[in-house]
Amino acid sequence: MDFLPLKDLVDRAYRDGYAVPSFCAWGAESIEIILSTAERMRAPVIVMQGPFELESLKPAVMAAVARAIKGLHSVTAALHLDHGDSLDLVQACIDARYTGVMLDLSVRPFAENVAALREAVRRARPRGISVEGELGHVGKADEKSAEGEAASTLTDPAEAARYVAETGVDQLAVSVGNKHGFYQGEPHMELGLLERLHAAVPVPLVMHGGTGIPEADIRASVKLGIAKVNVASEFVHGFRQSLTSQWTKGENLWAPMAITRTRAVIEPVIEKWIRITGAEGRA
Ligand code: 13P
Repeated sequence: MDFLPLKDLVDRAYRDGYAVPSFCAWGAESIEIILSTAERMRAPVIVMQGPFELESLKPAVMAAVARAIKGLHSVTAALHLDHGDSLDLVQACIDARYTGVMLDLSVRPFAENVAALREAVRRARPRGISVEGELGHVGKADEKSAEGEAASTLTDPAEAARYVAETGVDQLAVSVGNKHGFYQGEPHMELGLLERLHAAVPVPLVMHGGTGIPEADIRASVKLGIAKVNVASEFVHGFRQSLTSQWTKGENLWAPMAITRTRAVIEPVIEKWIRITGAEGRA
């Protein structure tokens, strides 16, 4: 079974009251861990790459790798471009048959963001590929995160309603206190603002910056329209720590063996997010 349109997975989650976890994956091993864990837990899942991952493997190669692995699993999954930064990258992912694309112009002026997303929708929709936009800006929780600008801007409900109407996006990423990377202290989610966004906007909402958000906030957010939760830093950190400790202890310098052992730290993070988004057993 091939990757399904991302919209199919997320719309169903939105309707049935859970969220689809969406994980950044940088190559064959991480894609295999995500898909096999989701298959075992009978959960729908999204595998995604952003510009950083697509530097090491270009979209056509990454999609071919992901699709070959997907063909070995019966899991319900979508392949998504995360934080696309240009229409050229969006087009490359459309051509590579990604099943969802995000174009993130959240730090650009409203009119420019709208015009670019409308164009992304014009190109993607006839191919059955859904489009995610971001309004307000999800910044960084710590300066080590690769994603987002330093500062966040909260999403305004009236602007969000106009944005969705004018662009036709299928999902909207919102900024309600969520940030990329590791929070300094407890994150503060603006659940009142999320409730107003949910009332103002007719499409599923996306929460970026999943790492570090407490389970109770995730569950509350899912009740307020969040139907896709993005996670990266938590398992990227585990991957890096595992390699660092194996290599500094000098236990093992053979890269394939070291990478194999990182599964022991990545898999529990994937399991945890499948569970707390409510996606377990939904495929
Ligand atoms: P975290 O790295 O904070 O989990 O955020 C990931 C993300 O939002 C990817 O788009």
